[in-house]
Amino acid sequence: MPQSYVTLSLETHLFFARIMKEHALFLEAGFPCINNEWIEDAESFRQQFEELLAEVIAISNGRINCDILNSNELVTEFTLPAEERTACLSGVAIDTDLTKKQKDLEASPARDEDREIVRRVHQLNARSLPLLNDFIAFKEAIIREMDTGNLFTANYPLLVKHIQREAKLYRATIQNLMNNRQVSYRELLGTENFWNQIMMEHALFIRGLLDPCEEELIKTAHEFSIDYKELLNRANCQNRRELQALSEASLEETLKYRDFKAAGTKGILNCEIDSIILPLLADHVLREANHYIRLLESTKQNG
Ligand SMILES: [Fe+2]
Repeated sequence: MPQSYVTLSLETHLFFARIMKEHALFLEAGFPCINNEWIEDAESFRQQFEELLAEVIAISNGRINCDILNSNELVTEFTLPAEERTACLSGVAIDTDLTKKQKDLEASPARDEDREIVRRVHQLNARSLPLLNDFIAFKEAIIREMDTGNLFTANYPLLVKHIQREAKLYRATIQNLMNNRQVSYRELLGTENFWNQIMMEHALFIRGLLDPCEEELIKTAHEFSIDYKELLNRANCQNRRELQALSEASLEETLKYRDFKAAGTKGILNCEIDSIILPLLADHVLREANHYIRLLESTKQNG
């Protein structure tokens, strides 16, 4: 049990702490310059998640599975150039060393963990919870102020709500790990619905952030949003067979979607696509598709 606790905790942080620090960057870069305090708060969250990620990376070598390394959900071939370009475009300093270190991580077969590592991981988990609570409250405040017309940001209100849900999933995952809870059948379905909705919303964001001249890409993004909406409409699965069919359809769709996102990230980095999408946002949504693919593939193997 300690091995899976250590591995699953580290893998969760390696994926999600990076996602959180990027959410903070997107928020930071989206505020108008009049909102200095919001900008500073977002930057502080970004740095705290970066510190958390650095500590996790420092103890992850040889303690994670090769599946997660091969999935390209932690780092893709585009992450480093996307970070470099985004840092230049936004003025936000990004610690790219973390990306290089994360890229160099190695997996290892299961082994018994010593008490010291279990204790350190437990401490990291415990430390991440108040940080996540504060970050969730921060996003809540942004949503409230946007909804009442007191705050303008370049991020869609739906994007802030979307990243809020991801923060809550991260927190729930850590809480479950700390309470040693087993994942149930209903939760499995819940996870698929969660990620199908995230994928659908990515398509809506991409559709809305592309330059209006990019008609073909806008059309494709729109079609992906419809496909995921249909998958979400099948969410009332009654038995394992229906759930299995839904998983297979979700996997097939997300593999196609991953290719679309990868081509988009490459196009944005090469200035071949006109948009108001930060290169790191393009890579970010690609990594989330890769993460979802790994989850779907692991359920397939275990199902
Ligand atoms: Fe995200």
